[in-house]
Amino acid sequence: MNNSKKLEKIVQMDKEYLYQNYGDRLPVCFTRGKGSELFDQDNNRYVDFFSGIAVNALGHGHPALTAALKEQVDTLIHTSNWFHNREQVEAAKLISETAFKGKTLFVNSGTEANEAAIKLARKRGLSISKKKYRVITFENSFHGRTFGSMSATAQKKIRTGFGPVVPGFTYLPYNDIKTLENEIVNNHENICAIMLELIQGEGGIIVASQTFVKKIKALAKKYDILVIIDEVQTGIARTGKMYAFQHYPIIPDILTLAKGLGSGVPVGVMHTKDTLVSVLPGGAHGTTFGGNHLACTAVSTTLKELCKQSVQNNISKSSQYIYDYLNRMKNTYDCIRETRGMGLHIGIELDRPGLPIVKKALSRGLVINCTAQNVLRIMPPLTIPMSIVKEGMKLFEDIIKEEGSSQ
Ligand SMILES: Cc1ncc(COP(=O)(O)O)c(C=O)c1O
Repeated sequence: MNNSKKLEKIVQMDKEYLYQNYGDRLPVCFTRGKGSELFDQDNNRYVDFFSGIAVNALGHGHPALTAALKEQVDTLIHTSNWFHNREQVEAAKLISETAFKGKTLFVNSGTEANEAAIKLARKRGLSISKKKYRVITFENSFHGRTFGSMSATAQKKIRTGFGPVVPGFTYLPYNDIKTLENEIVNNHENICAIMLELIQGEGGIIVASQTFVKKIKALAKKYDILVIIDEVQTGIARTGKMYAFQHYPIIPDILTLAKGLGSGVPVGVMHTKDTLVSVLPGGAHGTTFGGNHLACTAVSTTLKELCKQSVQNNISKSSQYIYDYLNRMKNTYDCIRETRGMGLHIGIELDRPGLPIVKKALSRGLVINCTAQNVLRIMPPLTIPMSIVKEGMKLFEDIIKEEGSSQ
């Protein structure tokens, strides 16, 4: 079979056997990866500036992760939460040490982590007063696709067509202190939690202001409201610190994680302050797969690797290079409206739709992404070497240059 026929066959099977809920997939099928490089069905090479939506924190085929997973596969993959689990407690200890002293509940995705957080917050609120179950979330937010997490998601397009969503969510404008204050002061008796992303990822890489977060902290404390920080996308060193909340003067009551947590192995986490553990006693919540031996080996290995100074230096050096490069580009190319982000969680707002640029980049060997229609996202593996950062940025500039002169 010749090369283009290989892809054609996969596309045909995709249409025949798969749900088409992802729309038109981009015309490539990756078959192997190495560090920050991907290779397609025809062995063409790509620079990975996407890491599978900020998932492959350690890149592809990281030697420590590969070795640990292989060993765990040979030893024990799954037993269930009926039993004690050494890999689970070790991973939870690392989360406590890197985030804050607390307790961890393992689940399988970001959506599930948020679902657990919402359940916990409502149960605690309702134990205080039968009215205290509303959760404040923010316009443009994205928290997941199940009924609870979808209902928490303010983006209307995510909720449309499914009938009534779960009641008890109020969407307020992001970074708007006055509106938040009014809402909380007037309605705190029925509010159990404020839930937010510190950088709205799917919303277009919108960064929370320090003053907004300070106000959330003060209001939450004053009115006995929990703060849920959804770090499904921002967590696990993506922003240059292990967790984005560490850039702010706040420690959440509930932290949710997924994506980069297992560096590609599906796993999610709800991590809470110790004092909240009694809210979900035995039988109140659970999952069959959550925190199995394989997933937790991925978590521990990922966290240990990302704690290394060399990786942290790499994130700050490579992100600085990209921001400097993008700032120069912004001054040169009119199609770039704004660049923003933290660490290797980077958004480039354009004056036009981003998808054609994503497609063109792919055809030139660069994997980038677009969110919120016109915000390109650069989120490479956190281990990306400087030589590949430079190569990717050069490819990116060449494409933007053509775009700039095409209107
Ligand atoms: C901030 C945030 N929360 C939750 C989710 C949902 O996570 P998952 O797709 O793992 O269910 C996402 C996914 O993009 C996310 O970005």
